[in-house]
Amino acid sequence: MRATAPSKDELDPIEIASRDEIAALQLERLKWSLAHAYDNVSHYKKAFDTAGVHPDDLKQLSDLAKFPFTVKDDLRQSYPFGMFAVPENKIARVHASSGTTGNPTVVAYTKNDIDMWADLMARSIRAGGGRPGDKVHVAYGYGLFTGGLGAHYGAERLGCMVIPLSGGQTEKQVQLIQDFKPDVIMVTPSYLLAIGDEFERQGIDPRSTSLRVGLHGAEPWTQAMREEIEARFDMDAIDLYGLSEIIGPGVSCECIESKDGLHIWEDHFYPEIINPETGEVVEDGEQGELVFTSLSKEAFPIIRYRTRDLTRLLPGTARSMRRMEKVTGRSDDMLIIRGINIFPSQVEEIILKDERLSPHYVLEVSREKRLDELTIRVEHRPDANGVDDAFLKSAAKDLSFQIKSLIGISVETNVVSVGEIERSMGKAKRIIDKRAPS
Ligand code: DLL
Repeated sequence: MRATAPSKDELDPIEIASRDEIAALQLERLKWSLAHAYDNVSHYKKAFDTAGVHPDDLKQLSDLAKFPFTVKDDLRQSYPFGMFAVPENKIARVHASSGTTGNPTVVAYTKNDIDMWADLMARSIRAGGGRPGDKVHVAYGYGLFTGGLGAHYGAERLGCMVIPLSGGQTEKQVQLIQDFKPDVIMVTPSYLLAIGDEFERQGIDPRSTSLRVGLHGAEPWTQAMREEIEARFDMDAIDLYGLSEIIGPGVSCECIESKDGLHIWEDHFYPEIINPETGEVVEDGEQGELVFTSLSKEAFPIIRYRTRDLTRLLPGTARSMRRMEKVTGRSDDMLIIRGINIFPSQVEEIILKDERLSPHYVLEVSREKRLDELTIRVEHRPDANGVDDAFLKSAAKDLSFQIKSLIGISVETNVVSVGEIERSMGKAKRIIDKRAPS
């Protein structure tokens, strides 16, 4: 089943306001947000003073470029509550992002912040084709991760029935999709694939479910993966983006009517794209690193946060607000193998063009004789015909050839049996680094 677009009168007026109206609102809010951060968070006071800027220096939106960036390490150093701009007794909730090393990054919300977030998640679900009265199955993890609770509050705000399953218990996910008949599923793309596998293991065609739309994010996924999901589940697959430092999911979302990149909810988050090397702001349309400034957050204002996500800004289409192109990689996910840059998403695109290969894959990096080597392990499709040694070898050889011709790098490829690649219950781990720490 497929979703339909909301009518204009269902939208928040600002979603289709003129660019001038949006810019005027942004300027007013940006002035407030800079002053709020400067007056209430010692990190920002120090950082602005060191850079020789004051919130009063912002006369127009482009003046934001004079202000210093915030990076993840700034948040780590203020662990746990040093970046909060309101007293602890005004904080309604915290979330945290795990990070593999060091302290987690803790973020905070006042009651108003939670309200704003719920509004933007409701707006995102509606943009994706969800409607009041729909049943929404949430398979993002609940807890310190923002995915589960962010989706939950947004679906409630839109007037939906929420089914708060969280991640994991894959058999139960299938059972409840069969029995409760949800219209919308909110889940990482990689975990959705694991749910799809479980449907098939039970002999149920995932195309036969009640699902009309999936809102997928928290990890990079390609256009090829969208096609895979849409065909496998016969539903629309919509890209939903966000990060805990900015709010959680619901910073930007695709619209069902256009599926052409994610509209940024610019009334609350001001985007810039910078050259990651020089820090200079680049023009809309140019590729670079996405930087966000919050415009209305009370508990955890964030100024020029460097997301590490690579994308570009495009003009609005289905909404007046600007779009960001699908994020296909983070600068930290880029591997440099013998001088050539490679992202897992490039490999995913190539894998999914081959009908013998499944979307379950990992990139393993090792170091042999001081040279980095990349091995790609990918499962063959469960329904592939005539799987034997010769089949596996020929699929692997073809994949190596495609990668060499399209990315320009020689890699080892290994086509493995179904189930050999570990399934994710949340964010997929696409890179396994076996190099000894230097
Ligand atoms: O992943 C929030 C979220 C939950 C977004 C559910 C969408 C759905 P973090 O754990 O802080 O927050 O991770 C944020 O995940 O900087 C991106 O690198 C990546 N990411 C999030 N959404 C997308 C997406 C949540 N749609 C980091 N496409 C971000 C590509 C994404 N990458």
